[in-house]
Amino acid sequence: MKGVVLAGGLGTRLYPLTYVTNKHLLPVYNRPMVFYPLKTLVDAMIDEILLVIGGPYAGHFLRVLKNGNELGIKHLEYVYQEDEGGIAQALSLACDFADKDSICVILGDNCTDVKIKKDVDSFAGGAHIFLRKVPDPQRFGVPVFDSKGEILKIEEKPQKPKSKFAVTGLYLYDNTVFNKINKVKPSRRGEVEITDVNNLYLKEGSLKHSELKGFWDDAGTFDTLFLANWYWAKKKNE
Ligand code: G1P
Repeated sequence: MKGVVLAGGLGTRLYPLTYVTNKHLLPVYNRPMVFYPLKTLVDAMIDEILLVIGGPYAGHFLRVLKNGNELGIKHLEYVYQEDEGGIAQALSLACDFADKDSICVILGDNCTDVKIKKDVDSFAGGAHIFLRKVPDPQRFGVPVFDSKGEILKIEEKPQKPKSKFAVTGLYLYDNTVFNKINKVKPSRRGEVEITDVNNLYLKEGSLKHSELKGFWDDAGTFDTLFLANWYWAKKKNE
């Protein structure tokens, strides 16, 4: 399995911090934010990684990550996302890199200490999403469950969430993900939603899920960036 980290975008929710550099290079305790998702992949023995970058400070990534060897990455590639078309549009740029392989995708602001090697090793096609109970599900993709605990559908940023779970920005996909992305039309916010791609897997009966047990935070707002700093400072990156 290969890894893809999505680290494009303008990070407008973090203006004025992101006037200086890309959101994913802002500090989370003693490391740039993007080190955390990269480590999640490397710890799962995924060492062929594509970083999707974008925005005015895309060049800063090279200075920080170089060829990735210092982080245990064997092969690090970069691709530049020209438009701000959403997560799935960014992921479509990974098609050539993935070739015929499956991919583990993680958003560049998702900082977690959860180990996913077991899920990666047992992945057998389709898609696997990771859920997490959160106090503010309306900020996320939210699964709707039936009485047996099976997912009926996923709703993107619902005003009235039907469960307390967020779909985290960590996904395992087989190679059909790229066909599925091509089938999805942009949403009302003008983005090709990863939630719509996940719903296509669901319709096909090939979407699995599990709950992330441990720390997980998307550090894309002032409060969650602060929380990530606080957590990792306490943990001292041991
Ligand atoms: C994105 C996805 C959402 C997911 C979240 C996880 O939201 O659209 O489904 O729950 O990442 O971090 P965004 O970061 O675009 O607000």
